[in-house]
Amino acid sequence: MCGIVGYTGSRPAGPLLFDGLQKLEYRGYDSAGIALLTPEGVQTVKNAGQKDVMALEVLAGKISLLPESVTGIGHTRWATHGRPTDANAHPHSDGSGEFAAVHNGIIENYMVLRERLQSEGCVFRSETDSEVIAHLLARHYSGDLAEALRLVLAEIEGSFAIVAMSSRHPGQLVAARQNVPLIVGAGAENEFFIASDIPAVLKETRDVYVLEDGEMAVVAGGKISFSDFAGTPRAKTTMRVTWDAVAAEKAGYEHFMLKEIDEQPRALRDTLYGRVDKSGAINLGIRAEFFSGVSRVVLVACGTAYHAGLIGRELLERWARIPAETAIASEFRYRRPLVDERTLVVAVSQSGETADTLAALREARKSGARVLAVTNVVGSTAAREADEVLFTWAGPEIAVASTKAYTTQLEIMVLLALFLATDRGRLGREDCASILAELKALPAKIEEILARKAELQRIAAYVSKADSAFFIGRGLDWAVALEGALKLKEISYIHAEAYAAGELKHGTLALITADTPVLAVVTQKALYEKTLSNVEEVKAREGRVLAIARPDNKGLAASADEVFWLPEVSDALAPIVTIVPLQIIAYYAAVQRGNHVDKPRNLAKTVTTE
Ligand code: G6P
Repeated sequence: MCGIVGYTGSRPAGPLLFDGLQKLEYRGYDSAGIALLTPEGVQTVKNAGQKDVMALEVLAGKISLLPESVTGIGHTRWATHGRPTDANAHPHSDGSGEFAAVHNGIIENYMVLRERLQSEGCVFRSETDSEVIAHLLARHYSGDLAEALRLVLAEIEGSFAIVAMSSRHPGQLVAARQNVPLIVGAGAENEFFIASDIPAVLKETRDVYVLEDGEMAVVAGGKISFSDFAGTPRAKTTMRVTWDAVAAEKAGYEHFMLKEIDEQPRALRDTLYGRVDKSGAINLGIRAEFFSGVSRVVLVACGTAYHAGLIGRELLERWARIPAETAIASEFRYRRPLVDERTLVVAVSQSGETADTLAALREARKSGARVLAVTNVVGSTAAREADEVLFTWAGPEIAVASTKAYTTQLEIMVLLALFLATDRGRLGREDCASILAELKALPAKIEEILARKAELQRIAAYVSKADSAFFIGRGLDWAVALEGALKLKEISYIHAEAYAAGELKHGTLALITADTPVLAVVTQKALYEKTLSNVEEVKAREGRVLAIARPDNKGLAASADEVFWLPEVSDALAPIVTIVPLQIIAYYAAVQRGNHVDKPRNLAKTVTTE
């Protein structure tokens, strides 16, 4: 995945583009570049990152080399086709240097196009699929840049957001979107900001056009026009962004991840706000018929959102007694799933842009299923394509490792399961009211945990020295263990795996040594004794057990090497609280190891490739 920006107006474009790229770094950051329009042609600086120096930092040193210009494009890359090298960084130009383009997505037929262009004499300077766009633009150009882009769009297949410019058209940018997000911000002074995502333009404007799939935008001379790929004009209006740009900044924290961990009480309160009315009824803001006759629920998601879905499945079955399954989106779509109009498909996605989740969502719609999106991003593709949406109000999540999005997704899972359970008469009003009362009290409990970071830092110091760590738990604790292991591996780079505690003896015990930390999640009352015997199994092999447990599991103190005691919490809601210490342990372990916490190697925040 990549981030793209464009600017045209009357101010120097270089610094504005760089600013936008910084806001988009979460979308990929292995290389970056900026190209400006000048009367002599397109001038470009671009580079990959260097050892321990991020690509944008390297780029910062080069911006001053560019001449002044009021029009330009920029890109921050996460490599798919071609390694992260200077040559593969965008923007890409044609041979004459008159046309330049940035691209996010994948051009699936690029090999055929590349071979054809090469046979016609084009010399390629990168290994990317994207470079064909610049060459094709030059080939198709006959006086009208938008028309040239249209002809390019008719030739390329795949997913893309593209912004292009030509030195033959000073002040003009052309852009197109197909399956990959792109927005245009309308600035104060007849200027336009194009970007992959809203935070990149918020410092400059709150009035934003969201391009739809199959739409193009042309900006020039302080004016904007839209059309479909065939050139038929489209009328569009701006949407006003009401959230605060400052919310997306670090606010004094060293890392976004820690800031976002600390924001969880607020995010949970916001997500619950307005969803339970005075009488205690859950109000999801979704029309009643949408859920009527649903006989099965399938939750589709990737990564952390998938882990949230695992908990959703269990709660839906437990409370609403509806058969439910959770599927990894990239698997779901290829397995010809049994989905029909009585199936509710819930696509869970922080960004609402993950390619595999969107493909699963579309597959489900094709089969006639009702599709509900659970997402954190207003205006995201998932939000727009689903029949109904439940937003998590976590606010922008910047760190690649997801934290507040996960806990708010869990909160939505609880609300959805409770809503369906009461709607179907599976759960009495009183039981529902007491769960909701506890849900409301959870932020305060998380605040208690956040005030005890020093205890967790000690555990993290030990974990950070390990080569490998295991997470174990049963039932909902297992689902939390999966997410805890993901947090640790993605930012500390320590090999971490989660196991259903009962499975340890079927293989994993062979890996336990005195140097292997085993993080045991022990919150489920009914499963407590069973998990305790798994802890004993580890101890008998000299493994070191660090437990996260409820206060009434005091017996653990004798078996485990260290226990982090949680505040009192019920079995069903325990995951929302239990994950917090695991997030903090992962965070401090990564800090101890000197890693880039917010931007771990090889990963991206939003993955728009399949
Ligand atoms: C990437 C991110 C993960 C995230 C996953 C799904 O891998 O690094 O943190 O869980 O994508 O993203 P989504 O936006 O669909 O929740």
